[in-house]
Amino acid sequence: MNKAINFESVLSLIDQAISPRYLNPTQEIVLREVWNGKTYSKMAYDYNYDPEYIKTVGCNLWQTLSHAFDEHINKSNFVPFMRQKITKLLEDKTEQSQRYQVPSLSTKAKNKKFCNWTTAPHTKHFVGREEEIGTLKSWSQDLECRFIVVSGMIGCGKTTLATKFAEKIENQFDYVIWFSLLQPPPLITLLNSYLKTISQHSEAQIEQKSLGLSFLLSEFIACLKQQRILLILDGLQYIFNVNRTNISYKQGFEEYGQFLRSIITTDHQSLLIATSCIKPRMLEYYAGNQVKFLELKGLKVQNTRTFLKLENNSSIKEKKLLSLSATLQSNPQLLKIIHNHLDGFSEENTEQIVQDLSLLEEISNLLEQELSYLSDLDKEIIYWLSISCFPMSLEELNKHVEQSRPKLKFLQSVNSLVKRSLIIKRDATYSLMLIMKVYLRRKLVKQAIKSENSISIRN
Ligand SMILES: Nc1ncnc2c1ncn2[C@@H]1O[C@H](COP(=O)(O)OP(=O)(O)OP(=O)(O)O)[C@@H](O)[C@H]1O
Ligand SMILES: [Mg+2]
Repeated sequence: MNKAINFESVLSLIDQAISPRYLNPTQEIVLREVWNGKTYSKMAYDYNYDPEYIKTVGCNLWQTLSHAFDEHINKSNFVPFMRQKITKLLEDKTEQSQRYQVPSLSTKAKNKKFCNWTTAPHTKHFVGREEEIGTLKSWSQDLECRFIVVSGMIGCGKTTLATKFAEKIENQFDYVIWFSLLQPPPLITLLNSYLKTISQHSEAQIEQKSLGLSFLLSEFIACLKQQRILLILDGLQYIFNVNRTNISYKQGFEEYGQFLRSIITTDHQSLLIATSCIKPRMLEYYAGNQVKFLELKGLKVQNTRTFLKLENNSSIKEKKLLSLSATLQSNPQLLKIIHNHLDGFSEENTEQIVQDLSLLEEISNLLEQELSYLSDLDKEIIYWLSISCFPMSLEELNKHVEQSRPKLKFLQSVNSLVKRSLIIKRDATYSLMLIMKVYLRRKLVKQAIKSENSISIRN
């Protein structure tokens, strides 16, 4: 499990192996992101590189590493190779220290905190979010608060905010452990990794290998009581399924429910912050102070200018970007994409540009992913809004939605879509985010033609 091993140790091992040569920044990005499970095309897109360039950097890297480690290393075996190599080194090290050290000696200096940021993104260019950070700060200072969930639309900045906030409060904790659930491990593996990290840096003698889940969980909760630990779990949505109207744990990840409940309900001095594209509504029923939900929206208008690195000279491109950012709800991920593509569009008309942007593969992938996090009822509502030429009132919208659905569920759904910034409420009427609207309209037309064609083939 690559996330249990600090990527910095991978880098330092590679640095030693390729010395006197060294990694350049792009090579480091490629390694970090391959470690993180990203494809070359996602990396190219995230870091504004040409995909072909990233591929070439990758190819050269694998050659260098194969030569340095005297083994055939490529993109597919890089992670398991490094994991094995480092695990072996760690085991050798532990064996040596057990052999040569007096057992009672502490490996962790008193009051020295230990941070394991694994694949957390850097936050060098962080902008805005003062209000949200203030809210998170006040929640984190409440000793009853044990779990904070930052949820919201895809790409709205959840991971960046959670990481920045964790960096700000790290000094208040003995341990900070950041973990991405992009490829979620079974809970038992996650707990083992947590306990291993904690035991490696403390006096606690934790013999976790042979323990079953319940024992591991209680060992882990005991650690949360003894030390002040800040856990960050990024991408909680990867363990959830959205059914017709409900959210549940994916098959094989049901035990995470027990894990989250234990963190919420037991008395300890630690804090878990999770990010999620899906709001885990099943946890809403716990006492208000124990679990807090921050439903994150896009950036504030005044921060988009800094985010997009706009000078104050109001060129046409800047004006276009600023008017577009409003239609994209200032979603930073969407803004990054349009910033890269805007030169290709000569039109002045914002709606026309949004139409063209919605055809981009990066945008349609992102919107499809967003759709996958919605319940059937959410989708029904946004499909109706997509085909309406005008904003709709709640009553109009409710008339369209399947009548068998309870009104309460309908209202909850509308409310959560507004909080997600997918639908916009203005003067008691509701409209759909423009880019989603044009995307869904096109999708509906395509599907209609497809089913028309399949009917005529059958006839
Ligand atoms: N406050 C911010 N300041 C500067 N950049 C930001 C900020 N928030 C987000 N970004 C940038 O926007 C992009 C998307 O942010 P991030 O990955 O945090 O979103 P997310 O909500 O976690 O996305 P996902 O739903 O895919 O997990 C990243 O490239 C990030 O660097
Ligand atoms: Mg994220």
